[in-house]
Amino acid sequence: MPQTSKWREKHILGLEYLSAAEITTILDLADEYRPAATDTSTKLDVLSGKTVLNFFMEPSTRTAISFGLAAGRCGATVVNFSKASSSTQKGETLIDTARNIEAMGVDVIVIRHSAAGAPQMLAKNTNCAIVNAGDGRHEHPTQGLLDLLTIRQAKGAIKGLKVAIVGDIANSRVARSNLWGLRKLGAEVTFIGPPTMLSKSMEQWGARVLYDFDECIGEFDVINMLRIQLERQTDAAIPSLREYSALFALTPERLTRTKDDCLVMHPGPINRGVELPSSVADCDRSAILPQVSNGVAVRMAVLTLVSRARDAQAN
Ligand code: CP
Repeated sequence: MPQTSKWREKHILGLEYLSAAEITTILDLADEYRPAATDTSTKLDVLSGKTVLNFFMEPSTRTAISFGLAAGRCGATVVNFSKASSSTQKGETLIDTARNIEAMGVDVIVIRHSAAGAPQMLAKNTNCAIVNAGDGRHEHPTQGLLDLLTIRQAKGAIKGLKVAIVGDIANSRVARSNLWGLRKLGAEVTFIGPPTMLSKSMEQWGARVLYDFDECIGEFDVINMLRIQLERQTDAAIPSLREYSALFALTPERLTRTKDDCLVMHPGPINRGVELPSSVADCDRSAILPQVSNGVAVRMAVLTLVSRARDAQAN
């Protein structure tokens, strides 16, 4: 059984700030919730009487929908709120917005924002529990957690695995959350990409940094392909998508040179034909849709734990 009674964190701001034991508690509770997460007829009452606000200031399909489903399947009231309908468009500050939301009786704010640190700012300035759903290039902790859960299910354990994260590392909050989570649970992480998207200085974070995918492709138990984030690139970081794909796409030919049981992952949304073609995205070794399903279970666990911690701190 998960050790949820020892959980103390009212906010999930990043995997950098959680211990291995805390990450494992979330994964264990997510495993427990998995049947309810994918059964539309089941509704738990663990968040009965609670209100969860989904506050998305950047576009999202998977994260926004799965937080909404997760909160609903735990019995919470869910309110969805996006940039287009927010009075921040009229000049209201993020802190004022959050304080007004709190004044209406919200327990948990799930926030996605283009500014790194926006969730931390809300955590300091409201009494709501705050869950980071992706802040700039900083972290996307629930994506990191659902990736860890998917790897643990496929491989049995995370300790000792060799995991490659390939692509636009510089702009990727997914890469950072995966790095912190995987290293805390004992995996070895290699970042691979072109020098314009990957700096040797990232070795200070504990990642191996390589620029040649073909040189090392046979080493890995898991290969996680990242999306090229054109929206976060100030200057073109690659000459063309075709040249990027020639060097870094997981093609069917490259797949034949991976380990026989190498798991293929991608956080989505996929640029089909850029990071990987459909024949690889949809192959037997692809965990892309299981990742999405696990997102609901992970978010059910996260919302339950932060809400309980908030209640405990209020008493
Ligand atoms: N992986 C992910 O964060 O997808 P969305 O942007 O669709 O939420």
